[in-house]
Amino acid sequence: MTTRIIRVHGRRIWDSRGRPTLEVEVTTAGGAVGRAAAPAGASTGSGEAVDLRDGGAAFGGRDVRRALCGIEEEIAPALVGRDAADQEAVDGLLVALDGTADRSRLGANALVATSMAVARAAAAATGLPLWRRLAGGGGELRLPLPEIQVFGGGAHAGGRLDIQDVMAIAIGAPDYPTALDWTAEIHRRAGEAMAERGRLCGVADEGGWWPAFDTNEQALEALVRAIEAAGRVPGEEVAIALDVAASEFGRGGRYRLRREGREMDGDGLCTLLLDWLRRYPIVSIEDPLAEDDAATFAAFTRAAGPRVQVVADDLAVSSAGRVREAAARGAGNTVLLKPNQAGTLSETAAALEAARRLGWNAIVSARSGETEDATIVHLAVGWRVPQLKVGAMMRGERTAKWNEGLRIAEALPAGAALPSPSCFPWGRS
Ligand code: PGA
Ligand code: ZN
Repeated sequence: MTTRIIRVHGRRIWDSRGRPTLEVEVTTAGGAVGRAAAPAGASTGSGEAVDLRDGGAAFGGRDVRRALCGIEEEIAPALVGRDAADQEAVDGLLVALDGTADRSRLGANALVATSMAVARAAAAATGLPLWRRLAGGGGELRLPLPEIQVFGGGAHAGGRLDIQDVMAIAIGAPDYPTALDWTAEIHRRAGEAMAERGRLCGVADEGGWWPAFDTNEQALEALVRAIEAAGRVPGEEVAIALDVAASEFGRGGRYRLRREGREMDGDGLCTLLLDWLRRYPIVSIEDPLAEDDAATFAAFTRAAGPRVQVVADDLAVSSAGRVREAAARGAGNTVLLKPNQAGTLSETAAALEAARRLGWNAIVSARSGETEDATIVHLAVGWRVPQLKVGAMMRGERTAKWNEGLRIAEALPAGAALPSPSCFPWGRS
């Protein structure tokens, strides 16, 4: 059997925040090699599978030498001899081997790098790109619509903006390369305008500008102006998406907007966001309320209406069970899928399946700490997920993903075509 695993090798590498992370290489009997690396979040949900980190003084306690040992001493011996082509069996084995509910013994970082490397090895062994192997038969494949950060805030930019991601979605772009072109120009114009006013502090973790705004709303105004400066029509060609990441500044029903020096309850935050929805071309809002405030999250989802994409990240943490819970409460209508929140690819796929059954949309997403690994682009295409959230093409770990999409486009029958507008809440009549 050419897909039989003969070697699992762990490696300690670096992520985009300058912290150690894990890479795994899986070799099959046929000589195929699959490689993948673990990303890392900063604004993590409390229900996520957790990484195994060393603690201690070095790298703020975030070294991964213990997790690396787990790969060499436990994961490798358990996987050698197994079939890389049977992803569910491999992932089931990884989960059982870890033995904890939160994947903390071997670490979600060790698990996700291994799980993705196995998928890549199986694809390589059969001579197929991963996206094609994941797609199997069935309907047409498209590239995902990019969701790209223009301004970064929250936990990714020293708290200069309470809202974590202020993003652009090129909803009117005719194809994937054009969506990237439009957004890159908007990003450039936004940076230029900030620099002219002496308000540019640098680049945030996901490649958006790290700005010095006085209020959160100024970021929305600046993005609308940048869309116009780039020659695009706000709301028609390019719309705004936000990741409020409210769990970062809200707890127990109280929300503190540090930038603006004010505090409010969940209803107050809803009122603020609904007002923005009325006055700005916003089509998508992620984590509008904190993960411990599901009732208000649901109230916001109802009030925002069916045409607004309300994305559950911290609330659903790429877990099928949590997606079902959130949907039962009416909290959100779209799930953000980050494989390392779940721990394995099979669990991530189960969250997608649960979302689809409930009529939810999905977005595949990178983390704020990334590497040049581009597996998530293959997941988005192969799993037919119509959106991808990665950050700006301003940093190498982000360009690795957007550029992979350009390569995949050359092999797709539909070329660089994007999903039809009817795939998205804002495109449905
Ligand atoms: P994280 O940010 O990777 O720091 O969690 C991304 C997000 O919140 O969507
Ligand atoms: Zn988020």
